[in-house]
Amino acid sequence: MDKFIITGGKKLSGTINVSGSKNAILPIMTATLLAKGKSVLHNVPFLNDIKMMAHVLRVIGARVNYNDNTLEIDSSHCSFFEAPYELVSKMRASIYVMGPLLARFGEAKVSFPGGCAIGTRPVDLHLMAMEQLGAKIDISHGYILAKCSKLKGNKINFPKVSVGATANAIMTAVTAQGKTDILHAACEPEITSLIEFLNKMGAKIEGENTDHLIINGVTRLEPVTADMIPDRIEAGTFLIAGALSGSEISVSHCKPEHLTALIQKLRESGCTLNIEKDSITIRPGKEILPVDIITEPYPKFPTDLQAQFLTLMTLAKGQSHIRETIFPDRFMHVAELNRLDADIKVEGNTAIISGVDKLSGAQVMATDLRASAALVLAGLAAQGKTTISRIYHIDRGYERIEQKLSAIGADIQRIQG
Ligand code: EPZ
Repeated sequence: MDKFIITGGKKLSGTINVSGSKNAILPIMTATLLAKGKSVLHNVPFLNDIKMMAHVLRVIGARVNYNDNTLEIDSSHCSFFEAPYELVSKMRASIYVMGPLLARFGEAKVSFPGGCAIGTRPVDLHLMAMEQLGAKIDISHGYILAKCSKLKGNKINFPKVSVGATANAIMTAVTAQGKTDILHAACEPEITSLIEFLNKMGAKIEGENTDHLIINGVTRLEPVTADMIPDRIEAGTFLIAGALSGSEISVSHCKPEHLTALIQKLRESGCTLNIEKDSITIRPGKEILPVDIITEPYPKFPTDLQAQFLTLMTLAKGQSHIRETIFPDRFMHVAELNRLDADIKVEGNTAIISGVDKLSGAQVMATDLRASAALVLAGLAAQGKTTISRIYHIDRGYERIEQKLSAIGADIQRIQG
């Protein structure tokens, strides 16, 4: 297993480019199954989660080619409607095939995803949406089986906002007969990008960027070519790297409008941010001020930046509170950050962070994708050497992170295990 060795305390400077958004691309890859023919996706990073989804699509019978940040998916000859345990257990997002398979074949069989490092993560809302559209769901031998001879539009009223369930509901409803109303839909940029992609394919979805979607079912969708949106979480991670290391850096190829909540919190922490059309420059203040955050659905503060912002707060002048309302147990990084001499306590779903003067390098272990990113940030700011093991987690969602950070002055090396 590869490791990172980081020598902290280096000043960063320059511009870092953001890659395409993993969490936008994964559902779009499965949406290509809704049309017969070849779809082409540009601005696709070479990430383990993307490779894993390509594998899932190949099992279903699609031809998938990746070359130079372009992904071609030809779904003309798909005939298999199952996502097996071996794949779903490695990547929960495999559940995204469920809606498109049900819509295309009237049948889908997907291994029941288990829990993961950030919590229990049920899929009841995905299944509820499919049932509302007429599917019969059976769960047996660890698999979810969904069947329907004719999907029919209906009202889907989510009791709680779910990104994944909204995406699956949309993909199930686009070719259902009649009108579907989705209430309390997620309105994350990744959902909007899925809606735009599907509308380009010929779907009729209204209400993007809001929590009420109206879908008028169509009989046919066509394959399309599209650019994928930039990764707002990668962009946010790099902005926090600037704030933590006291460095002025620019983050480019991003969409600042997707980062409003983070930008506001970074300003409250004393940083100055200069916003351009597709780039943000961060200038840290003289000291890091304590700031409280609560993670909530978009456009509020994203759970996927909680670990990284918490790391920033470890060096703040005072105490801050971070409340996690999306995945209440998502604090696996806390014990590792405390190994670097941070002072963090967790009470229920809240982390209480008492700022310290310095972090000290140590050996730590990555536990999930964003926790790994937080440890990299901590390593950049810590005095001395930090070794991070199990970095396969970070390769799921950050493309060449060590190369991008080295290019702006970080001392970070990958040791192949
Ligand atoms: C997506 O996960 C992202 N994953 C996550 O990013 C992200 O943290 C999360 O949305 C929240 O923004 C992908 O896009 C691939 P949810 P998802 O359904 O869709 C509960 C990362 O680090 N819930 O919006 O699985 C759930 O337990 C990852 O890139 C149900 O109760 O998240 C949670 O409390 C990690 N029943 C809340 O809803 C369900 O059927 C929101 O989860 C589904 C979800």
